[in-house]
Amino acid sequence: MRDFQGTEIMHNLFIGSYDGKKRLFTKSGYPPHYGERKIGDLREWMPQRSKLGALFLKGKIVRFERDMKVLYLGCASGTTASHLSDIIDRGILYCVEYSAKPFQKFLKLAMERKNIIPIFGDASKPENYSGIVEKVDFIYQDIAQRNQVEIFVRNFEFFGRQGSEGLIFVKARSIDSARDPEEVYSDVIEKLESHFKILNTGDLLPYHKDHIYIHSRWRG
Ligand SMILES: C[S@@+](CC[C@H](N)C(=O)[O-])C[C@H]1O[C@@H](n2cnc3c(N)ncnc32)[C@H](O)[C@@H]1O
Repeated sequence: MRDFQGTEIMHNLFIGSYDGKKRLFTKSGYPPHYGERKIGDLREWMPQRSKLGALFLKGKIVRFERDMKVLYLGCASGTTASHLSDIIDRGILYCVEYSAKPFQKFLKLAMERKNIIPIFGDASKPENYSGIVEKVDFIYQDIAQRNQVEIFVRNFEFFGRQGSEGLIFVKARSIDSARDPEEVYSDVIEKLESHFKILNTGDLLPYHKDHIYIHSRWRG
């Protein structure tokens, strides 16, 4: 790619300078999905549109191997899922979404890719998709719900195995808009600590305000 000075930090994931700015790209044989640029075979990953993109651009590393099985809760129309699917190109990405409108657009993505299994369902009811999803290496959750920690844990009870990792994004206001966000985050981390080893946590500034991420490992 002309003028791109980048490093492959994970399979098919590149970070480096382009147009005088630090940018993120995934190598992809597929067309753009959400209006992102495609330069040669690299799709630009827009950090303002994707919390995982923001995390990588901030230099935080959550490792995805190309043959991983990943369960994605709250895939919406597939912005982030499209890049994750590029990275885990020999793996499987099970994606759950309960809202019909974004799911319609998501289906287009799932149809063009071999490694995405779309599930139109409620992430709080993993029993409804337990016949489709197997044990996974990673559970990714971005659903902004009051009971999202319980939903995360329930999905691990169904599909986690010892050593499986998880990434959860939490917005304090979605859990309790009346309380101090720092208190809400401490409560969330405390709840998670009874099931997980916490690997890393932090904010997503300047790309996403009012969110934290928690990267953890299931104790089983
Ligand atoms: C912030 S958006 C996700 C954006 C997406 N992760 C991305 O980066 O491309 C949150 C999504 O979670 C979905 N969602 C919320 N609660 C859910 C549930 N219980 N089951 C399935 N999807 C849910 C919403 O419909 C919405 O599409």
